[in-house]
Amino acid sequence: MEVVKNIVWHNATITKEDRHRMNGHKSAILWYTGLSGAGKSTLANKVEEKLFERGYHTYVLDGDNIRMGLNKGLGFDAESRKENIRRIGEVAKLFVDAGAIVSTAFVSPYIADRDMVRALVKDGEFIEIYVAASLDVCESRDTKGLYKKARAGEIKNFTGISDPYEAPENAELTVDTGNQTLEESAQVVIDYLEANGYIEKA
Ligand code: ADX
Repeated sequence: MEVVKNIVWHNATITKEDRHRMNGHKSAILWYTGLSGAGKSTLANKVEEKLFERGYHTYVLDGDNIRMGLNKGLGFDAESRKENIRRIGEVAKLFVDAGAIVSTAFVSPYIADRDMVRALVKDGEFIEIYVAASLDVCESRDTKGLYKKARAGEIKNFTGISDPYEAPENAELTVDTGNQTLEESAQVVIDYLEANGYIEKA
C-alpha cells in the first residue's frame, strides 16, 4: 500500500462535548462480544430499542451486516478478524465523536483486538459486554446452521469449534443470555448505564 503523506488533522469546530450538551447524554461504545449465536445482535437491538424510546441517540453496528458492506471480502483468519475489528473500532469511535451510544455486535474473539479498540477511545467510553452463552447453548440453538457445517468441516476457523474464543477477563459487564430472558439481559445493561451516569435513571 502507498504510504500517505501530507495529511493534517483538522480540529472540528463543534466538539463532542457540544454534542453531549445538545443531546442531553454522554456517548459511548457498547461492545458486545461472544460466540456466534450467543445473542449479541438480539441483545444489542433490544437495548437500543429501550434507549431509543427514551430519546437517546443510538446506532447498532452488526457483524454480519458490516461484513456485507464496509468489510466485504474479509475472512476469518486471525489477521482478517483483526482488520475487521480495527475498522469497526474506528467507525464506532466516529459515532462516539458524533455523540451517539453505539452498539457493536461482533464475535471479536481476541482479547488483543478488543483492547485495541478500548485504547482508541477515552476511559469510560468503551463498555465491554460479554454475552456469555456457553458453546453448548449456542450450538444447540444453531440459528444459522453454521455449527453443523463447522462440525462437518465445511467451515474453517469457526469460533468455538476450530478457532479460539478468548473470553474477556475484565469486561464491564457479563450477561448470561443462556439462563436469562432477553428482557432480563437488556435490563442488566440499562441498569449499568444508569448506575454509571451514562443515562438518566428512568
Ligand atoms: S469477528 O470474529 O471478526 O468479530 P464477526 O462478528 O464479524 O466475526 O462475524 C461473525 C459472524 O460471521 C458469525 O455470527 C457467523 O454468522 C459468521 N461466520 C462465518 N464464518 C465464521 C467463522 N469461521 N467463525 C465465526 N463466525 C463465522
